[in-house]
This record gives sequence, C-alpha cells and structure tokens, in this order.
Amino acid sequence: MILKNCVGLITGASQGLGKAFAESLLKKGAQVVICDINQAQGEITRAEFDLRYGPGRTAFITCDVTSLPQLKDVFSQTVQTFGRLDVLCNNAGINNENSWERTISVNLVALIQASYLALDHMRRDRGGKGGSIINVASMSGFVPAAHAPVYTASKHGVLGFTRSLAEASSLGNYGVRINALCPSFVNTEILETVNHEENLGIFYQFKDNVKNLMQAFGVLEPSDVANGFVQLLEDDNLNGAVMKITTSKGIHFENY
Ligand SMILES: NC(=O)c1ccc[n+]([C@@H]2O[C@H](COP(=O)([O-])OP(=O)(O)OC[C@H]3O[C@@H](n4cnc5c(N)ncnc54)[C@H](O)[C@@H]3O)[C@@H](O)[C@H]2O)c1
Repeated sequence: MILKNCVGLITGASQGLGKAFAESLLKKGAQVVICDINQAQGEITRAEFDLRYGPGRTAFITCDVTSLPQLKDVFSQTVQTFGRLDVLCNNAGINNENSWERTISVNLVALIQASYLALDHMRRDRGGKGGSIINVASMSGFVPAAHAPVYTASKHGVLGFTRSLAEASSLGNYGVRINALCPSFVNTEILETVNHEENLGIFYQFKDNVKNLMQAFGVLEPSDVANGFVQLLEDDNLNGAVMKITTSKGIHFENY
C-alpha cells in the first residue's frame, strides 16, 4: 500500500503508541483521524500535528470505543472529512483487572466492532476500495501473565480474531489485509498501571514479577513499534501476519 494521500483512522491515539502510529502516517504524506476517550490530550496532539505537518491533515474526534454509536459516528465523520478510509488501526487499550469486563470491552469487543465497521467501508467485493486493518495485540498474546489474566486473555483473543478474519478476507476476496502487531514492553503510560492496586486488583501481589520482566527484556520506544506498523501497511503480501517486536530481536514474525 502506498501511504501518501491515504486516510488512516487510529483509535486511542491521543498519546503513546497510537500517537506514534498517527505521526508515522503523517510523515508518509497520509491524513489521519485520531480518536480517543481523552479529549484534552487528543486536542493537544492534533494541535501539535497541525504545527508539524500542516493544518487540515489531522482530525481529532472524542470517542469511547465501547460505545457503538460513537464508533459509528467516527467512521462517518472520517469519510465526511477526508472522503475515504484506507487504514484502520485498532490501538485503544487498557490494563485493568479490577474492571475486567471493561478490559475485554475495550481491548477485544470494540476492536471487533471497529473491524466490522471498517470492512463495511473497505470490502472490494461489496463495492469498496480495499484497505488495511492493523490490530494491536501484545506479547501478552502468547505468554501467560500472573499480574494480568484478563488483559492476557484479551490479547490472545485479538490474535485469534485477526488471523481468522484475515483468512475470511482472503477466501472472500474482501481486498482488505488484516494483520496484528505484538510489541513487548513499550515506554508509554500503560506501563504505569502495574504500580496500582486499583488496576491489578487481586493480582497486585504479582507486580514485582512484571517489573522483573521489564528489567530483563528492556523497554521499547513507541517509534520502534511505529516502524513495524509502517512495514505491515506497506507490504502488500502480508495478511494474517503476526508481527512481534522485542528489544533483543527487533521486528520479526510468529511462525504458526
Ligand atoms: N506499552 C506497552 O508496553 C504495550 C505493549 C504491548 C501492547 N500494548 C498495547 O498498545 C496499545 C496502546 O497502548 P499504549 O501503550 O500506547 O498505552 P496508553 O495508555 O498510552 O494509550 C492508550 C490510549 O487508549 C485510550 N483509550 C483507553 N480506553 C479508551 C476507550 N474506551 N475509547 C477510546 N480510547 C481509549 C487512552 O485514552 C490512551 O490514549 C494498547 O492496546 C496496549 O494494550 C502496549
């Protein structure tokens, strides 16, 4: 996919990884819609992008991805503003074992909803122009984690959904590539959640395990992960791919 003049929609992009993904698209000459529940930070990020990449290339829409009406509105506004939709990145995510149902709602249910809405716009076999969906999973999509069983379940779910939908897209000639991105620890606010009992709930006692893992494996920067994001979008051969990014091995793929 040639990213110049594409239109990308990224959820949870006020800060952290989503912001880095949005910036990588802007650097390639695309236009982006960033949506996030955090309105104040989203507006700051849009203003920053306007200054750096020129006004009118970034739109910010306040959205709680767990609300289907709000999510539908984001897709309509994206097409109204920029005339098309080529890329969806399902990035919004939380780590909360206390409100574990919400963790599943944000990390998995909303990702499924948004993927279906994107397919409605993109499917070539239904008159769309094709496109690309990237679902942000994690290394938690492969390994168990005592401090975060439900977060881990949500990310395992993201991989199963992504690989299955990619197969449907290929067999059904949707013309949409659907891939997953699995970084190990990245230097963003979500890492802070492991320091708080209100996030980890009864698993708070295992917080030192995860801190030891961070020490052992190291922490990536969002820009490292954005490089993988761009590779998944630009390589037209990738569908159903599961890209892993770690400090030791860099960008590589899971072979199932
Ligand atoms: N940082 C890491 O170590 C790491 C590693 C692997 C995967 N991930 C995944 O990367 C993604 C991005 O996380 P991050 O690391 O940038 O953390 P982050 O906390 O900085 O960013 C998450 C963003 O999602 C937004 N968000 C949360 N709930 C939302 C909702 N209901 N509706 C809309 N937006 C919502 C937040 O406001 C925030 O801007 C998540 O899916 C996370 O699970 C992160």
